[in-house]
Amino acid sequence: MTINHDITRNVDLLEARSGGLKPRVGIILGSGLGPLAEDVADPTAVPYGDLHGFPMPGVGGHAGRLLLGNIAGTPVAMLHGRSHYYEAGRADAMKVPVRTLAALGCEALILTNAAGSLRAEVGPGSVMAINDHISLTGVSPLFGEPGDGKFVNMVDAYDPALRARLQETAKANGLTLHDGVYAWFCGPHFETPAEIRAARVLGADAVGMSTVPECILARHAGMKVAALSIVTNLAAGMDDIGLSHDQTLSVAARAAGDVRNLLLAFLKDWPA
Ligand code: HPA
Repeated sequence: MTINHDITRNVDLLEARSGGLKPRVGIILGSGLGPLAEDVADPTAVPYGDLHGFPMPGVGGHAGRLLLGNIAGTPVAMLHGRSHYYEAGRADAMKVPVRTLAALGCEALILTNAAGSLRAEVGPGSVMAINDHISLTGVSPLFGEPGDGKFVNMVDAYDPALRARLQETAKANGLTLHDGVYAWFCGPHFETPAEIRAARVLGADAVGMSTVPECILARHAGMKVAALSIVTNLAAGMDDIGLSHDQTLSVAARAAGDVRNLLLAFLKDWPA
């Protein structure tokens, strides 16, 4: 079966199960951000196993279900659980899920993740809007893509107007929202201190193992992108606390409240 056929079947199934809900915004939840799923009112929950071409996430903190419903009055499609490049060595792991969101009608995709901070003053629990990224993996989710659409322009990939609105919304709600460059390392191992020093020289403010391939796929599919990183730790070598996935999950869960409040306010004012 072709990818396009999978996407068409997914859209038919999701429209049937949700009674024809037309989401305007897609949201992908990162590690530890599961509580945001509680904000979807009257959700229709569809397990990834019922959808075609959706990879089952194999990492703790990532459920595998798609939620359709409303957040603060805006119809959304939320992916509760993502797959990563490091799980099967495929940068296009999220190709069908992202394209399904676009085919459902989402005009924007909000990506969330847990990240390590390269700035000592931006510590665990901080939230950062991504303003640009650096891929340190050398791979693309668009390898092998037919047609010339694959030559995606990545200038302003993180939509400047959405970023400005995120900052305004944060300010209006008394939240500090940092702004910076996210560097994508392949994982699943954490970085070495030397890699972190190198990433800092290159201009990165945060590091993580996700988000970049989804941003590329979303831009290719014509969606606007906004992305939020929850800082769960200072990056390798910056302090004496050992890095672990448990720490990522527990700090992200504690900071999830801020992201939740920010997204509720952000989606409430979603442009008509
Ligand atoms: N590095 C990579 N990914 C991460 C980190 C980190 O320090 N923290 C949370 N996700």
